[in-house]
Amino acid sequence: MTERIWTSDPNKPNPKEECSPQSAEDFTGIQDVHRDSLHGRARVSLAPARSQEGARMNLAGTRLRAMFAKRTPLPCDWQREYVYKESKKPRFSRKAMTFITKILFNNILGRFIHDDFHEAVSSMTITDAFLFLMVHWVDKVEKWHRLPVILGLIYLAVRRRLHQHYNLISVGKSPSGVRVNPGDYKYRTADGSYGDPFNEGAGSQGTFFGRNIMPVDQTDKLKKPDPMVVATKLLTRTQYKDTGKQLNMIAASWIQFMIHDWVELIAPKEVANKCPLTSFKFYPTKEFSTGFDDVKTGAKNIRTHWWDGSVIYGSDKERLQKVRTLVDGKLKISEDGLLQQDEDGIPISGDIKNSWAGVSTLQDLFIKEHNAICDALKKEYPALNDEELYRHARLITSAVIAKIHTIDWTVELLKTDMLLAGMRINWYGFLGKKFKDTFGHVGGSTLGGLVGLKKPINHGVPYTLTEEFTSVYRMHQLLPDSMHLRNINVTPGLNKSPPLLEEVPMPDLIGHKGEKTLSQIGFTRQFVSMGHQACGALELCNYPSWLQDLVAQDVDGKDRPDHVDLAALEVYRDRERKVARYNQFRRNLLLIPISKWEDLTEDKEAIEVLKEVYGDDVEELDLMVGLMAEKKIKGFAISETSFIVFLLMASRRLEADRFFTSDFNEEAYTKKGFEWVNTTESLKDVLNRHYPEISKKWINSTSAFSVWDSPPNAPNPIPLYLRFPS
Ligand code: HEM
Repeated sequence: MTERIWTSDPNKPNPKEECSPQSAEDFTGIQDVHRDSLHGRARVSLAPARSQEGARMNLAGTRLRAMFAKRTPLPCDWQREYVYKESKKPRFSRKAMTFITKILFNNILGRFIHDDFHEAVSSMTITDAFLFLMVHWVDKVEKWHRLPVILGLIYLAVRRRLHQHYNLISVGKSPSGVRVNPGDYKYRTADGSYGDPFNEGAGSQGTFFGRNIMPVDQTDKLKKPDPMVVATKLLTRTQYKDTGKQLNMIAASWIQFMIHDWVELIAPKEVANKCPLTSFKFYPTKEFSTGFDDVKTGAKNIRTHWWDGSVIYGSDKERLQKVRTLVDGKLKISEDGLLQQDEDGIPISGDIKNSWAGVSTLQDLFIKEHNAICDALKKEYPALNDEELYRHARLITSAVIAKIHTIDWTVELLKTDMLLAGMRINWYGFLGKKFKDTFGHVGGSTLGGLVGLKKPINHGVPYTLTEEFTSVYRMHQLLPDSMHLRNINVTPGLNKSPPLLEEVPMPDLIGHKGEKTLSQIGFTRQFVSMGHQACGALELCNYPSWLQDLVAQDVDGKDRPDHVDLAALEVYRDRERKVARYNQFRRNLLLIPISKWEDLTEDKEAIEVLKEVYGDDVEELDLMVGLMAEKKIKGFAISETSFIVFLLMASRRLEADRFFTSDFNEEAYTKKGFEWVNTTESLKDVLNRHYPEISKKWINSTSAFSVWDSPPNAPNPIPLYLRFPS
């Protein structure tokens, strides 16, 4: 394999006429060709062509999407940094390789592979087909999560590679325009543009959601079975089930805080009277033509797709101006540590739609963090002006949020040694924190971690979040019916637990009313109370009934006139947005599908109701219902199916972003700022900075995301990578 450096210098001997794209779009194309030739194959997307008879999904729709690219000179010097690797001519043609794989797998190894995957495998490269065989074999004979940590990590790495190759589907024309020198944008822009040095619009506000699975048109069965029936029989909370000591209400608020950083689909102005649901009105998802044949329409994100803290900064210039003080880089916050409100009583923060007191307190905390960073930077670098302080502080705060999510929140959500190791490898690499702190990023993503990679990696598909990612994050079951307010004015009891004062119904804590209630409660009492209360479990019949009669809000935080049944709406949304139903979703993620209800759950009562609603047709099972019904892996608060999407997308959020890779350095963050990120390890660290008394007095647990009166993690003398699951 030969390596070529991008260059604009006409005197350089590089064969630039062969490897320079004309536009950002072409550049993306070249990355595709590069990747494809590297692996000696064309890119495959698994099309969801379930047969009419409905017996099982047929992967006959699997299509090869070959990528082409024009090659013309690049104009800028900065592109010298990015290396284009050109592979030698493959010894066999792609056709021949595919033919060999087909013969090999259909005739020899096919018998070891579940019927539903034959066609998909026959379209893979030989390497991928063998890797698939490996994970498939583990799926069949042994559960991967029961493997020793090191073997489990290998399984997950192989799986992630397969999904990076087969589950990233671009939607719409990637935005193109004049390429810029990323050196001119060493900061996160208001709308997320210029986040990708090769594609200035990628991941910005108003761009299409990508796909992990090809869309499945369900126009003829939007109401089959009726979403109201599905919601009432399988989702509505009958008795509150919580997560025990594993996750608290801060953890539930945290993920909503993240969702408001990441996704929200655009809705049009007109009310959709023609929608199939008749008992309540709602806006249909606005679909835009992509101008392409493979995925014809798509929805756009009103937030930026990047992990850029839009929940506190907003996703456009207007909101950004509203939240900034324009003095010393700081953001607006009230004297009492809560969000300021505008003249209409609407809180001032990056994202305020469909929010509640729990999310507001996290916004408060991270606005304080941003402002503290501004102070620290100003002290260290007095010459920095308001704009420069703001830009650096935003980069630093966003990285702190991403780090906490990766090595604190996710670790509590997927509480196993394997995932503790996996998440730390994503941030610090296999060599670990001490090594990275001393020697910097060494090696590739495995040894050195995704963060600090020499260049961003998008696997040939411009970075976006995806429809399927949104669907697996439909987790409203995390919310309880009431908040248990604690008395913080008396000495805490056993394990730092403050006594219960009163129960506040959740509807009193949402929207405008919620802001008023929060100002009476105060930051400390709200935060301590959330810390000591377990959040809801992601299970069937645990959807809060108060969300089934909800006044939803517009982007500007104003109440909409109609109440909605959010549970029924969510079932409808997945179908409307062409997200595959549960079984098809699993197949497309190369997970063994279910063939009977007993494969999904051991709960006999649940099986009865599933049969009532869906009959014997497991293919009809809605995604959200399947995710809730699925028997959970020990230590996991979410389903295995959801986890596979996380495995792919959590890594992608880091590796595709230049501010976590090529621009994760002292130049962009400042020396002080880089140190700030590197020395912050958890939410507790941030809390300690701004409210040191909270940890000292009320937190007994190791993580601020587990219920605070739980015991701290016991020390384990066995090195992490050598552990076995308990
Ligand atoms: C009081 C708290 C909450 C309220 C009032 C609320 C309300 C809403 C509403 C009205 C929608 C839009 C429904 C539609 O038109 O399709 C929505 C979507 C969503 N919510 Fe929540 N939610 C809350 C908490 C949460 C939590 C804790 C999560 C956890 C992850 C969550 C995740 C989502 C997701 C993933 C969507 C889909 C995004 C989209 O359609 O673009 N929400 N929520």
